Amino acid sequence: MATINQNYQKLAGSYLFVEIARRVAAYKEAHPEADIIRLGIGDVTQPLPQVCIEAMHKAVDEMGKAETFRGYGPEQGYEFLIEAIRKHNYTDRGIDIASDEIFVSDGSKSDTGNIQEIFGTDNRIAITDPVYPVYLDTNVMAGRTGEKQDNGYYAGVTYLPSTAANHFSPSLPTEHVDIIYLCCPNNPTGTTLSREALTAWVNYAKKEDAVILFDAAYAAYITEPDVPRSIYEIPGAKDVAIEFRSFSKTAGFTGTRCGYTVIPKTVTGKGKDGSRVKFRDLWNRRHTTKFNGTAYIVQRGAEAIYTEKGQRQVKELVSYYMENARIIREGLQAAGIKAYGGVNAPYIWLQTPNNMPSWDFFDLLLTKVNIVGTPGVGFGPCGEGYFRLTSFGDRENTKRAVERIKNQLKF
Ligand code: MLT
Repeated sequence: MATINQNYQKLAGSYLFVEIARRVAAYKEAHPEADIIRLGIGDVTQPLPQVCIEAMHKAVDEMGKAETFRGYGPEQGYEFLIEAIRKHNYTDRGIDIASDEIFVSDGSKSDTGNIQEIFGTDNRIAITDPVYPVYLDTNVMAGRTGEKQDNGYYAGVTYLPSTAANHFSPSLPTEHVDIIYLCCPNNPTGTTLSREALTAWVNYAKKEDAVILFDAAYAAYITEPDVPRSIYEIPGAKDVAIEFRSFSKTAGFTGTRCGYTVIPKTVTGKGKDGSRVKFRDLWNRRHTTKFNGTAYIVQRGAEAIYTEKGQRQVKELVSYYMENARIIREGLQAAGIKAYGGVNAPYIWLQTPNNMPSWDFFDLLLTKVNIVGTPGVGFGPCGEGYFRLTSFGDRENTKRAVERIKNQLKF
């Protein structure tokens, strides 16, 4: 009989957002008349920028003619997109990244989930608590953790508490770790790490010979000057950091799917005979073996955001969601609810009134005012007593949700 990967049995039954969708569907079935406003999963609602639509239409037409048709593309991504990414996000900002250090993919969820495959299973990982569940769950699946304990923590993982008490900027580990996951701007808390904090992380990684997996999927939402857009703005980061970027939240590509990962050749790990091996080469091996490239049409759409017109349209899109963030943040404050984030990120992280457990607050919002959010504890034990709302809804629904919270809930 075939045996299973028993590491999967260490995991909770379903992925966080699948569980939320299940609970919302059950409620909707019992209350078909409910006018539910969804501010749970961070999924965008506004149409793709016009430049992307035009570029993709053109690419579709090319695919319809023998002379311009394209089959398999380079697994790592087409040069036209890689060069646009390189120039706009790195070279123009004084960061030297080579074309063959950029890997285009179908999005950051896949990349942040798959990256752990190129690391040994004996590495110790550090994750913030709360955390985007993909980082942890994929390491559980790979066997890099022990069992889940009664306190909600997996054995063998270093958790970095990230709460209001430390301004959501976790302290450096007091023990040695090999891999550190950082997400900035942060999902779920919507907060950021300052240049100083990030410098301390890079220095720690250099000292400990560790690797930082830096998820910058929300970089386009940064408004404050002291927050680095890329970890490579920090001296020395090119020796220790892998960076993930996405078009999902920047340009509305959650359904279109495109992202990329940057692995400088200077980021290395220990091989069998003790020699230093480039993680970039392992990722290239993995990518070319397991992935056949992001669709040409999609890559043309992504390329278009780097034109002058594209940049304008993307800025408008980001501003639209950030205005929603402001409406939510200020509305919650007016309702007497303490809220964080929403200044450099599209997420608002609120403290539940009267220390209500996160899932109870989820039920209260769903059943009393028909609003879906995400319970903080779903992102880790330190998320207990917190709750996340996304600003990716449309304006009308965002305003209606805030009015419902302000007027219909009494704490
Ligand atoms: C979230 O809600 O946390 C996001 O949808 C995560 C993601 O982009 O996968």
